[in-house]
Amino acid sequence: MQILKKDFLWGGATAANQFEGAWNIDGKGSSVPDLCTNGSHTSPKRVTNKIEEGVFYPSHEAIDFYHHYKEDIALFAAMGFKTFRMSIAWTRIFPTGMEKEPNEAGLLFYEAVFDECLKYGIEPLVTISHYEMPYALVETCNGWEDRACIDYFTNYCEVIFERYKDKVKYWLTFNEINGGTLPLGSLLSLGTIKGYNGKITEVPDRPQERFQALHNQLVASAKVIKIAHDKYPNFKMGNMIVFITMYPYTCNPDDIVETQKKMRMMNWLCSDVQVRGYYPSYAKRYLEEKGIQIKMKPGDEEILKEGTIDFYTFSYYMSNCVGLMPDAAESTGNLIGGLKNPYLKASDWGWQIDPKGLRFTLNEIYDRYQIPLMVVENGLGAYDKIEEDGTINDTYRIEYLKEHIIQMKEAVADGVDLMGYTPWGCIDLISASTGEMAKRYGFIFVDKYDDGSGTLERKKKKSFEWYQKVIGSNGEKLD
Ligand code: BG6
Repeated sequence: MQILKKDFLWGGATAANQFEGAWNIDGKGSSVPDLCTNGSHTSPKRVTNKIEEGVFYPSHEAIDFYHHYKEDIALFAAMGFKTFRMSIAWTRIFPTGMEKEPNEAGLLFYEAVFDECLKYGIEPLVTISHYEMPYALVETCNGWEDRACIDYFTNYCEVIFERYKDKVKYWLTFNEINGGTLPLGSLLSLGTIKGYNGKITEVPDRPQERFQALHNQLVASAKVIKIAHDKYPNFKMGNMIVFITMYPYTCNPDDIVETQKKMRMMNWLCSDVQVRGYYPSYAKRYLEEKGIQIKMKPGDEEILKEGTIDFYTFSYYMSNCVGLMPDAAESTGNLIGGLKNPYLKASDWGWQIDPKGLRFTLNEIYDRYQIPLMVVENGLGAYDKIEEDGTINDTYRIEYLKEHIIQMKEAVADGVDLMGYTPWGCIDLISASTGEMAKRYGFIFVDKYDDGSGTLERKKKKSFEWYQKVIGSNGEKLD
């Protein structure tokens, strides 16, 4: 018996700034990642406040999807993709974010990409803003701290909705919007880094500013969802959450309460607003205790109520433990670290691998909201090696994905309504946290390295054929 739906959306996920390159071509403006250097697992990348001579900025060429999109989409089609998650670079359409009229060359590029997908029956799943705030908005507005960004973003959305209304049905407003509850969110998603030049790990944290910026983003998200629902009834509008599953380190009630607090403010806050249409009661106490006051404008509450999502999407890579034990070992992770779980292994970057955590997480989310879910990021960042015969035997990646798919199916058997699965970085791309090429996720290898060298040639890894079989059997053949 087939466990997954017949029309299950198998595919892969990417983000413009991590794979397009062509950072200043055809009228594109700079976004925050265009000013980020590369780093590594042990040495943090930097964000500069202007382009520095002689410094390597990985997003500038990335893997040059801009000039390889036909070849890349043909490879996705060969794997059997039903959907392709990609983002539109805001700065290709509005180079500073503030123009009234869009850049036609940018619009044409995405039109061509969507047409290429549709030619193969691949449904585009579009993230409207994936960690790529126009840098001019950082300089002018200190990013999302300024409510003016709500209007700029709305204008951007109105343009792309109208232009692509017959090509794109599935939209996600902000990638990992809840990243804004963390200090790193200032750089990644909120753009509240005006003037800052330095390591991304040392961006000064100003929670008042951060939560105000996050509120403005939540309002912007709801506003454009309402516009979409009113004007384009065929659109399906989703959110996108970085879900960091947290377990209490011990059964000490103090650890349980601490875990609940962290789970709420990190994982649930934004989606509670985006699904239910209002701030949850627990937010009030947290914000008061931290001395944070969110300034709301008349009408904000109505907008949040009227712009709720149709489906919930999230990234899932790992889990962490939470507890008050002073001497427990620490682990790193996606956006935040936590405590080491003695039952789990970790990737080379220290992210703890926890397939069963995905089943648990899917069930937790579905119990809370009862709307369709989609896993739009999951995968193993690993060092890949080209063998002498030219093959790339990424059995570790196959194993990781296979175990997660097994648990995803368990969750569906538990009753979760799951729409699809798009593993991250289906083609090798730049790492968001470190700016490395060496941290590879793809089914397709790209000949590109951390010093910027490489021919950009694409090569199938062992996992390519494996994923082709998985999709062809709708998740039944996993070996
Ligand atoms: C998610 C982001 O948090 O994790 C992606 O949405 C990112 O942009 C992915 O690339 C994997 O993280 P990293 O740091 O390994 O690239």
